[in-house]
Parts: sequence; C-alpha cells; structure tokens
Amino acid sequence: MGFIYRRLIRRILFNFNPETVHDAVIKGARAAQSLEMLNSLVALLAKARNFPVTAAGLKFRNPVGLAAGFDKNCEAARILAGLGFGFLELGTVTLRPQPGNPKPRVFRLHDDKAIINRMGFNNVGAWEAARSLERLLPLGIPVGISLGKNADCSMEQAPQNYLETLKVMYPSGDYFAVNISSPNTLQLRTLHGSEKLRRLVEPMLSYAAGQKKIKPFFVKVAPDLEDAGIESVVALAVELGFGLISTNTTVKRDAVPEYWRSCDGGLSGLPLKAQSNAVLARVVSLAKGRIPIIGSGGIFDGPGALEKLKLGADLVQIYSGLIYEGPFLVKEILKYLERSHWRSPNPVT
Ligand SMILES: Cc1cc2nc3c(=O)[nH]c(=O)nc-3n(C[C@H](O)[C@H](O)[C@H](O)COP(=O)(O)O)c2cc1C
Repeated sequence: MGFIYRRLIRRILFNFNPETVHDAVIKGARAAQSLEMLNSLVALLAKARNFPVTAAGLKFRNPVGLAAGFDKNCEAARILAGLGFGFLELGTVTLRPQPGNPKPRVFRLHDDKAIINRMGFNNVGAWEAARSLERLLPLGIPVGISLGKNADCSMEQAPQNYLETLKVMYPSGDYFAVNISSPNTLQLRTLHGSEKLRRLVEPMLSYAAGQKKIKPFFVKVAPDLEDAGIESVVALAVELGFGLISTNTTVKRDAVPEYWRSCDGGLSGLPLKAQSNAVLARVVSLAKGRIPIIGSGGIFDGPGALEKLKLGADLVQIYSGLIYEGPFLVKEILKYLERSHWRSPNPVT
C-alpha cells in the first residue's frame, strides 16, 4: 500500500498546494468516517500486530501516535484511529476560534522530505472542537488534546487562556499536551522559562486534581532549546509530575538548502530528526525514568521510530512522515518493530 501511495497518489497530491490537499483530505476523511463500512475497510487494510504499552497511567495498543496539527479541529478522529495509531493527539485547539496566519503558510521541501509551516493555530475554537470530538468518541485508543494560546491574548493572560481551553476540552481528552513550542505564535516559546511555565501549568494541574478523573499532562518542547533550558524544563516536569513531548518543529535552517533560509515558520520532517533526537536523548538522560516521554520529529519509517524508542521515548508521534510516506506508515512501522523483536520496557500488565 505504501508503494502505491509513493508511486502514484503522492505524485498527484504534490501537484497541489499543501494546505488545499490537507483540507480536502480532512473533508474526505470526515465524510468517509460516517460510513461504517469504510471505517472497517480502512482498519482491515491497516491491521498490524500491536504492542501494548503503558505510559502516563494510560494503556496504548502500540506506541505510535499521530502528532498534533494534523487534525486541528478534532473532526476526523474516527478514521484516523482506524489507520492503526496507538493514540491520537488532536488540536492544537485555542479557546476562541482564530484564522491563523495569512496563506500561503505551508510549504513542502520535497527533495528534503521536509515541511515548513507557519499556520499559527488556525482552528475552530475549543467549543466547536469539543462538540465535534464528542460525536466521535469513544475511539478505543487514548486521545490527547493539544492546547494553545489565542494570538490576541497577551502573555500575561496566557495561563488563564490555556486554563479556559482546558476546562472546555477536559471531558473529551485522555491526556493534555500544553503546546508552548510553536514558533508561529509571537513569544509563545518564552513560556519555556521555568517560572512562566510553572505559572502556566500549575493551575491546569490543580484543575485536573479537582476533577473526578485526574488526567495526565505533557508539555511539548522546542528542539531549539539550549541545554540550560532543557535542564530547567525537565526539572519542573519531574517536580510537578508532567510528561514531555520532545520535540516540536525547529526555526533552524542549517539542515536545508539556502533557498529556504528566509522562509519563516517551523521546519519538520527528515532534516529535523538529528536535532530532535539530540534533545530527546538529553531529556531522557535528565529525566531518569521519572516522567513519561513522547518522541516526535523526523520519523519516516520503522528504523526512525525504533531509534527514538531506543533513545528512551515511551511513545512516538508522526506527522510529516504521513505526508511523504502515506497513511499506512503506522502499519509499516509496527511491522518493522515486529521484525526487530522490539519489546516495550513498559508493557500492559
Ligand atoms: C503543517 C503542520 C502543522 C502543525 N501543527 C501543529 C500544532 O498545531 N500543534 C503542535 O503541537 N504541533 C504541530 N505541528 C508539529 C508536529 O506535531 C510535529 O511535532 C512536528 O512536525 C515534528 O514531527 P514530524 O517531523 O514527524 O512532522 C505541526 C506540523 C506540521 C507539519
């Protein structure tokens, strides 16, 4: 199946604007998932051996998840779950709807197997996203909700803005990913600073602690952090008890041709892999098994996923790989894990 995608379907899709293709895919997926027969067919085609894993107190059928940003409005989750993912991270959702940055804002770097995006959290807002998702639940796999800040909200108001978003989305998610690492919202990355991050996350953790069901949190970090920044984020994660997603996209352009250096936005895909893995390795070595860790950045195949798992990620996520390698990438990765006799260090007991 991957072969057909790469040889034929990708060639056709890549003739069109990336965002137009993405919107059409989401629209198609929305329509398709309302037909039970189509859901079953997709699930049958994507079927692979599973590797039950426990992380953050949740059970996953396998460690390969969908990264945030693919289904920003939580509207295609049912058919996405059928592709064999162990979990989905939906969003990033902001409290109020917002249009994001002016188009064009997504660019394919075809020869480099990369993407640059500066979408800027375009989404329908938390209420609408929660309504859509409620109609699709339960999916049989954990669903994470990525939370972001509205562009028109000041940095001083950020903790309140995130908290309000969390309150709306809380019933719909199994875990929450606090996105402080998108390079496309002004000053968002300053939230990596220890005190700012504490002020952001503590109210959300207290809110969760007051609910009937306490749900786990992750903070998604930037691959452009200096070592001191990584140290302080990990120390806070261990102290407050949240997991980390390592990493989001990079603003660096060293790994892509000169032409792309002046293109603003976050770079993802193969050229991000080495940088992202270096941060992941550092996070793992500082965390010493005390927090759950999700690896994201540059996974295009089984070996790429296994590399992150061997570095110490409990779970991994893919995005750009799906665009370049197609919807059956999860199955290909799971088959590779099987061939490699991979065993989770944290199996479901
Ligand atoms: C078009 C696009 C949109 C994205 N939107 C989001 C987002 O809304 N929230 C988020 O946390 N990450 C977002 N990401 C980052 C991905 O979730 C992922 O962390 C990153 O692309 C690295 O993984 P990859 O190399 O497998 O793509 C986006 C990535 C792309 C390519």
